[in-house]
Amino acid sequence: MADTTPETGPDAAAGTIYLADYTPPGWLIDKVELTFRLAPMATRVLSRIAFRPNPVAPEQPFFLHGEDLKLISAKIDGAEIAPDVTEKGLTCVVPARAFIFEAEVEIAPEGNTLLEGLYMSGDMYCTQCEAEGFRRITYYPDRPDVMAPFRVRIEGDAPVLLSNGNPAGEGPGWAEWDDPWPKPSYLFALVAGDLKAHSASFTTASGRDVALNVWVREADLGKCAFAMDSLIASMRWDEEVYGREYDLDIFNIVAVGDFNSGAMENKGLNIFNSKLVLASPETATDSDFEQVESVIAHEYFHNWTGNRITCRDWFQLSLKEGLTVFRDQCFTSDLRSAAVKRIEDAQIMRSMQFREDAGPLAHPVRPESFVEINNFYTRTVYEKGAEVIQMLHRLVGPEAYRKALDLYFERHDGEAATVEDWLRVFEDTTGRDLGQFKRWYRQAGTPRLKVSERYENGTYSLTLRQETPPTLGQPDKLPLHMPVAVGLLSPNGDEALPTQVLELTEAEQTFTFDGLGARPIPSILRGFSAPVIVERKSTAAEEAFLLAHDTDPFNRWEAGQALARRLLTDMIHDDAPSAHVYLGALGQVLAEPGLDPAFRALLLGLPGEDDLAAAEAAAGRKADPARIRAAREALKGQIAAMHGRALQRVYEENQVDGPYAPDAGQAGRRKLASAALALLTRQDGGAAARAQFAAADNMTLSIGALSALLSIGEGAAELATFEERWSDDALVMDMWFSMQVTHSAPEKAAETVERLTEHPAFTPKNPNRLRSVVGALAGNPAGFHAADGSGYRLLADWIIRMDKTNPQISARLSTAFQTWRRYGEARQKLIQAELARVAEAEGLSRDLGEMVGRMRGAA
Ligand code: TRP
Ligand code: ZN
Repeated sequence: MADTTPETGPDAAAGTIYLADYTPPGWLIDKVELTFRLAPMATRVLSRIAFRPNPVAPEQPFFLHGEDLKLISAKIDGAEIAPDVTEKGLTCVVPARAFIFEAEVEIAPEGNTLLEGLYMSGDMYCTQCEAEGFRRITYYPDRPDVMAPFRVRIEGDAPVLLSNGNPAGEGPGWAEWDDPWPKPSYLFALVAGDLKAHSASFTTASGRDVALNVWVREADLGKCAFAMDSLIASMRWDEEVYGREYDLDIFNIVAVGDFNSGAMENKGLNIFNSKLVLASPETATDSDFEQVESVIAHEYFHNWTGNRITCRDWFQLSLKEGLTVFRDQCFTSDLRSAAVKRIEDAQIMRSMQFREDAGPLAHPVRPESFVEINNFYTRTVYEKGAEVIQMLHRLVGPEAYRKALDLYFERHDGEAATVEDWLRVFEDTTGRDLGQFKRWYRQAGTPRLKVSERYENGTYSLTLRQETPPTLGQPDKLPLHMPVAVGLLSPNGDEALPTQVLELTEAEQTFTFDGLGARPIPSILRGFSAPVIVERKSTAAEEAFLLAHDTDPFNRWEAGQALARRLLTDMIHDDAPSAHVYLGALGQVLAEPGLDPAFRALLLGLPGEDDLAAAEAAAGRKADPARIRAAREALKGQIAAMHGRALQRVYEENQVDGPYAPDAGQAGRRKLASAALALLTRQDGGAAARAQFAAADNMTLSIGALSALLSIGEGAAELATFEERWSDDALVMDMWFSMQVTHSAPEKAAETVERLTEHPAFTPKNPNRLRSVVGALAGNPAGFHAADGSGYRLLADWIIRMDKTNPQISARLSTAFQTWRRYGEARQKLIQAELARVAEAEGLSRDLGEMVGRMRGAA
């Protein structure tokens, strides 16, 4: 009977689920009532679910998902039944009309190491249901297109008992919650524990009062204010910019110490990795504060983009994630610096998403098949998905965008929607045909934008040619509809043509510009207007010119990066490197007084080791991580030697007086001072950094000083002081651990990880701690790719080990191997051997099996 459900259908052997196989659910749900009797090893879950046949669905057997559940009893319309139970779920015969299904099951949150479903973090109960965790709580059609109102009763000893929706009564040992808004099961949440609230209230634009709480352990109450401020700012912003109001009487956020990912948007009860809630000047860095702000916003924004309008199936994941990332990016650029935010987002795309698109894990923004959906919470679905919406926004303009969004909310509120629904609201409001644009959702791989140009008698013509390289299963790519923002500069540095958005739709198109007095210097892909790689023959002189004169901050920064990349590439290959153009240009930037410090800090940054490895591979060479490291270090030394005095001045001028604030202004100055300090350290042996560490009264300054010291092999005494001071603060200790790994000398990196895993404060059960030690290895490319294979071996050992308890984590760790093709034959062989060893591990999880299969399959 169960064999027409996707999990056990015709593709059961491969275990692959296909978008093309989508069928509507056979039954819909009018109401869900749940009772939890909490006990660590034997929680009882009683469910009462009102089903009715779905009139538009094809005939199908009645199937409810359920995994690792002990079924105590099941009833239909009050009469006991004996359903057919497998390890995937339950089937039974049901009447051809509406009926009530009831079940009682037993689960063991204490033994749940997956951190999915109902589990315990310390002595607190909590849940994580996205994507398919609810089936570990009770029998249910655990798919996002089944939406229902929930009523929940929790019985347990804990002082605080929370679930979704509005409070509906409480007494000693129990609480009830009522969520009137129909929702899919992945948005269900429950929390029970000894928690304290940092509370506030919010009055919506239409005058409704909403109670706001950030729930934490008592000891953390002093670290909640910033998260609360961020929540209030997010609520206001969504009203002002999207016209979206909050829709319940209460909004709860809970901080949890053990969490697989960042945070989760459960309706009215967001659950957060404590790292993304708790922040105080003493314990969190400026960048931690900024992350808290943006993730609080992200999860809040999901209330409309994800919850009120959800996804029809998991292939549509980017419908909520791409859109919500785009929304949180806009929020951050409104609150902080738009230029800096755009550059940072482009950096993430280029270092994290392009790598995915260029390797064996490449997949479209809307994948067409998967084995384990948890493996598709990727940079492609999230960040490239957001870039696709950024392009749409640019193509239709802000007013049409807002109109389209209004229509989206009006048309699809309360529904489980698709990418087609999303694009249709844009077509209906603008009259545009987005058929070609839709290819961005279907085609994997990073398009190349090849630029050539001509200048004759005042007329300049720009020929743009696009080409997307083949990816696995997609040998032939079609041209995309691409907004290319372009500006032209006169040789004297003036802007000859302000930014224009060229719409590229053909494989090749030529655009001409008349009336120019001289051959202009083009500024292509301003604002990173499309997630593509620009290929254009340019010169160091031209890059230096753009670094000095471009009015577009993104391209100005990009010109500096290109210049540095050019030099570093020569250094890597001993190819007569000549540093004077780059160093000269950098000197001018350092001296430019009016420039935003945060932007200046970005200009001062060299392309990362991983980006240089990607650039090597893109140029058809094999990347050598050791030489890349050496070249970057050498260039840092040269910068420090040549600009020591200017750096010293920048360092001094950007000290912040007065009380610490995590705002963009102060944070930018600290970032610039810290970038200067890291370079100065190469001249003064660490004297300034030691002084800063000793005097620091906030974590940004402490970490800045400590990492500057570690980067030159110093700082042992400071590390010890730091450890002693912070040994009882888990989040701060995570930084202590990870810093040592990322700054370790390459030949010692694996050894450092091994030593730290033996530290008494190390525990692999806590995902943050595991990521800060084992996960941090990939953040030290020269160390991870050590020629003797020690990094690979160590990571594979941990992947195999973690897979037995937490497959989501092991699968995620394995992605460090996805770039294997970039490296020389010796490294490739070492990696393949480790992947083979992982593939043969006993009891390999579906999560890890899929990842390793994909990475090996492309061998
Ligand atoms: N939906 C979450 C977000 O806002 C992502 C998420 C949280 C998640 N927990 C998860 C995804 C567990 C997969 C598994 O981005
Ligand atoms: Zn999200």
